[in-house]
Amino acid sequence: MTSDLTILGLESTCDDTAAAIVRQADREAPEILASVVHGQTSLHADFGGVVPEIAARAHAEKLDICVEEALAASGLSLSEIDAIAVSAGPGLIGGVLSGVMCAKGLAAGLSVPLVGVNHLAGHALTPRLTDQVTFPYLMLLVSGGHCQFLIARGPEEFTRLGGTIDDAPGEAFDKTARLLGLPQPGGPSVQAKAEVGDPKRFRLPRPLLDRPGCDMSFSGLKTAILRARDAVVADKGGLTEQDRADLCAGFQAAVVDVLAEKTKRALVEYLAENPEAPLLAVAGGVAANSAIRAELETVCANLGVAFVAPPLALCTDNAAMIAYAGLERFRNGAQDDMTLVARPRWPLDKAAPALLGGGKKGAKS
Ligand code: KG4
Ligand code: ZN
Repeated sequence: MTSDLTILGLESTCDDTAAAIVRQADREAPEILASVVHGQTSLHADFGGVVPEIAARAHAEKLDICVEEALAASGLSLSEIDAIAVSAGPGLIGGVLSGVMCAKGLAAGLSVPLVGVNHLAGHALTPRLTDQVTFPYLMLLVSGGHCQFLIARGPEEFTRLGGTIDDAPGEAFDKTARLLGLPQPGGPSVQAKAEVGDPKRFRLPRPLLDRPGCDMSFSGLKTAILRARDAVVADKGGLTEQDRADLCAGFQAAVVDVLAEKTKRALVEYLAENPEAPLLAVAGGVAANSAIRAELETVCANLGVAFVAPPLALCTDNAAMIAYAGLERFRNGAQDDMTLVARPRWPLDKAAPALLGGGKKGAKS
């Protein structure tokens, strides 16, 4: 397919409702004409996590508004949209259903093709949207719901080299913040505290580093933080700001060490197979962490590997990545019809065994 394409994308798999419009002229770099994200953080703030029913209702209410805002920002009308792309999973099923139903309505009403997109493919293809990276490349997807190493070989062709067997790092950051009475989302608040803390005062475990391979585990770290906190409270009757900072620094240092070592192993495995394409890309909210980013850059530099980190707004959940992944699928000749189903689980690598554990997005994929 060689024509210009303008795609409207929808995203509603977790706690961000988003719509975006991406256009790609034939053989040109893709262009984000609009990208609107309405977060739901305040709706879930009282509950210590994302409440699926509240999320689904908010998505159903906000999707139309996001689409209207995206159209207004792009200056386009619906008649100029060539296809509708939608995150059809994996994620919290009520939210995914809201998006899929909205997309079906739009596609049917406009008589344009419908393209279901795997949310993880959206993240994994983002370096092609932002930096025109060519296949193959190694991807580290590290967010509140996911953590995995993927070799991206084509728009729908991914090989998973490893992933978390329990919590995602973002969940661990969020839980650590909760245990220490810091605001949500936990990543930025733990990072800020860690910057003024002593990472050596609390020596926390580095799970699974003693085992070969690229699988990771982060749930033990949360227990370790809980124990370390309780020990300080039992000893001194409470936590000082310095105690909090030192706990955050110890926790962040453990996550950095695990991610750096496992990234090194994933890169060695990837480079053995793809020496001609030395590139690591990251996506996901945790990729915003400056200590993690700096360490990954060092790992890459030491191995002579290029490092691509899309801008933060495109690392976290957004619909531009969904519109773009839909565009790639569509150019590849794929599309869906009204039988498109919303999927709570949807592994990108169909050959890899399912990951265990339930993340903030529900089941891991
Ligand atoms: O990709 P994302 O927006 O949503 C999904 O989980 O899919 O990632 C959100 C996660 C949250 O857990 C948040 O605490 C974490 O990313 N995060 C960070 C930082 N900024 C956001 N984690 C560590 N350091 C940060 N600076
Ligand atoms: Zn995501």
